[in-house]
Amino acid sequence: MQVFTFILLIPGIPSLLRTIYGKRHKSLERKIAGLDFQNPIGLAAGFDKDGKYFNVMSVLGFSHIEIGTVTPRPQPGNPKPRLFRLVKSNGLINRMGFNNDGAEALAERLKKKRPAGIIIGANIGKNKDTPNDEAVNDYLKCFTTLYNLVDYFTVNVSSPNTPGLRSLQEKEPLTKLLVTLQKENSLHKPIFLKIAPDLTTQQLDEIIEIVVNTNITGVIATNTTITREGLKESKNEVEEMGAGGLSGSPLLEMSVSVVKYLAEKSNKRFTIIGVGGIEDYDSAKKHLDAGADLIQIYTGLIYTGPTVVKKILRQLVSFKSMDA
Ligand SMILES: Cc1cc2nc3c(=O)[nH]c(=O)nc-3n(C[C@H](O)[C@H](O)[C@H](O)COP(=O)(O)O)c2cc1C
Repeated sequence: MQVFTFILLIPGIPSLLRTIYGKRHKSLERKIAGLDFQNPIGLAAGFDKDGKYFNVMSVLGFSHIEIGTVTPRPQPGNPKPRLFRLVKSNGLINRMGFNNDGAEALAERLKKKRPAGIIIGANIGKNKDTPNDEAVNDYLKCFTTLYNLVDYFTVNVSSPNTPGLRSLQEKEPLTKLLVTLQKENSLHKPIFLKIAPDLTTQQLDEIIEIVVNTNITGVIATNTTITREGLKESKNEVEEMGAGGLSGSPLLEMSVSVVKYLAEKSNKRFTIIGVGGIEDYDSAKKHLDAGADLIQIYTGLIYTGPTVVKKILRQLVSFKSMDA
């Protein structure tokens, strides 16, 4: 990453890379919640937890970059090793545990120069040692610290690596959390809720009700799964890696079915961002056909490499022109 950052300092290189990777396609532009997205593909949360790489990543063609998860106070995350590759399955298991420099350090970085035309979101969470009944204060602290510095917010209540975090997806604490943030949301910035792929249909029905009632912009579906289905690695290999969230190819069908359920059951009353297992045109198309307005990628970038966005965009454009 550091070599890549260094290369970007050479005059002319960023615009050259932008020409190679980030060609704009008029037909893929979309306006969502008042924001102009150059195309549907964004960088999912977790890659740039501290806002150190968004300038570098912006040349790869993403329309939006979600920074974080950031917590109010800095924290080291879980002990290493905490990230494992499942090469045969194109997957990752991680238990990073929100390692980050804290909201104020991120705010300082965001005050510096931002690339033009790219939408920046902040994915916010709570510190590990904050009890759940005080979690609202943590989200609120991140929200107010970053309020004037980002284009949208994502409320992360779905990472499996902060003990108890996922129980904030339940009706009462979640409603309280979103109502509190909306009260502070004087500029009506888009707020998304990021959910787990492991929710039951009854829980998804509650999520729909809460999103509509609190009038937030939409849902990001999904975070990583705690299940270990459909892996090509042996049971022993997987067990040795231990606890954590599974992402990448093995997550695709689970995430797509959540997107589809939300889109159908809600009658598309809110925006849906699909994420989970997108690594090529076919997997991206599955999310979009299921009802996603935008999509995001993390693990696919690791396995397919930096050309993944460009490749998907090129195919989206050529199939669009065939439809026309
Ligand atoms: C190493 C790693 C760290 C992650 N960290 C975060 C995070 O801090 N916050 C978050 O909301 N999601 C996080 N995610 C989840 C991703 O944003 C994404 O929802 C998930 O990986 C599914 O997409 P993918 O299959 O394209 O990776 C992380 C994923 C990975 C692999």
